[in-house]
Amino acid sequence: MGVAVVTGAGGSLGHAIAQRLAHDGQRLAITDVAEHTLKETVDALGGDVFARVVDLRDADALAAFFTDARREVGPVTALVNNAAIYPTVPFLEMELADYESVHAVNQRGYWLCAQLAGRQMVEAGTDEDRSIVNIASITMHGGWEKLAAYVTTKGGAVALTRALARELGPRGIRVNAVSPGAFKTAAEEIYDDPEAYSAMVVERQALKRRGTPAELAAVVSFLTGPDAAFVTGQTLEVNGGWVMA
Ligand SMILES: NC(=O)c1ccc[n+]([C@@H]2O[C@H](COP(=O)([O-])OP(=O)(O)OC[C@H]3O[C@@H](n4cnc5c(N)ncnc54)[C@H](O)[C@@H]3O)[C@@H](O)[C@H]2O)c1
Repeated sequence: MGVAVVTGAGGSLGHAIAQRLAHDGQRLAITDVAEHTLKETVDALGGDVFARVVDLRDADALAAFFTDARREVGPVTALVNNAAIYPTVPFLEMELADYESVHAVNQRGYWLCAQLAGRQMVEAGTDEDRSIVNIASITMHGGWEKLAAYVTTKGGAVALTRALARELGPRGIRVNAVSPGAFKTAAEEIYDDPEAYSAMVVERQALKRRGTPAELAAVVSFLTGPDAAFVTGQTLEVNGGWVMA
């Protein structure tokens, strides 16, 4: 196993992904803009991890994170582009600055991390399994009110996945996306009535229960691991059978 970078590792799904990849035997380099939640993940991992608070919008800080991670734990062999923001604002009212912020984190941030990690993956050489997983979202299918800026970045994550899979495949680097449904996380506090939201989710899924972050992390584990050695350019929908794509 190699070195996995997880962005947004202090968040609900990022925490579970970091824990699962550590369990798989990956050495971890993790980052988040929120210091206290990043520390919670570091503590949950027993402290044996390279961690740094970085704002994905800061390209220089991001580059320094990857350089220092390489020095501390070795060249990156897996990247999970997970950090994202999802402000719910009616389309006709959203300020341009807020739109640009969503794109700076969810789109430009994914692009920058993929490039910084990709360069180290080339350096790591073909003896190592190397892959990128971009976290997309069920919201890119079928439309979603008040999330227009966010959904464009999630559709973009899938397009980026396919473009990079095509370009990096000849170097042996796999690139896939995971598109989560509605997992039971802190994120749904954005809804006015979380219980009604939860009931709506279960009603729409084929499986009549909420998914857990650990179940999403298991799919990321599969895609970053040797069992997915011939899988690239794909988007795995992990949503309990809500959208079937
Ligand atoms: N929770 C779900 O059900 C769900 C559904 C669909 C897609 N997703 C996707 O899964 C991923 C994780 O979502 P989550 O539910 O864990 O959300 P979350 O808000 O719990 O985690 C996101 C993390 O990203 C970090 N972050 C935000 N802005 C940042 C920045 N500028 N620089 C660095 N880090 C920053 C946050 O601090 C946070 O820890 C996201 O890509 C999200 O779009 C989640």
